[in-house]
Amino acid sequence: MDQARITTAISELARNIYLYAETGHISIEILEVDDKKGIKIIAKDKGPGIKDIRLVIQDGYSTSQGLGAGLPGVRRLMDEFDIQTWAGEGTEVSIIKWLR
Ligand SMILES: Nc1ncnc2c1ncn2[C@@H]1O[C@H](COP(=O)(O)OP(=O)(O)O)[C@@H](O)[C@H]1O
Ligand SMILES: [Mg+2]
Repeated sequence: MDQARITTAISELARNIYLYAETGHISIEILEVDDKKGIKIIAKDKGPGIKDIRLVIQDGYSTSQGLGAGLPGVRRLMDEFDIQTWAGEGTEVSIIKWLR
């Protein structure tokens, strides 16, 4: 189940980079904190940025169709979700899934 969640989340972020920023980077990191293990994914681009993040993380706000329901879907699929964006400079989405 977690594999499906993680791959869906990554594909949504890759899709956003491709659609809105054209190019970017996705990095994947293994986390080991005390006895917790997890996977952290960072998707970065130098595209146009997102004007209103509050709007964008609301369900139902989407300008195109994706299987994973966009950024609100990514947030639901993962345990931690963080987005930073600067108008005209780019976007960085950081997500973590802790493994059981
Ligand atoms: N990396 C990005 N750079 C610029 N804008 C973005 C990026 N990712 C998302 N957005 C903006 O946020 C909106 C919502 O994204 P998302 O929830 O993935 O839905 P969708 O891609 O289906 O529109 C997009 O329509 C786009 O305007
Ligand atoms: Mg999308």
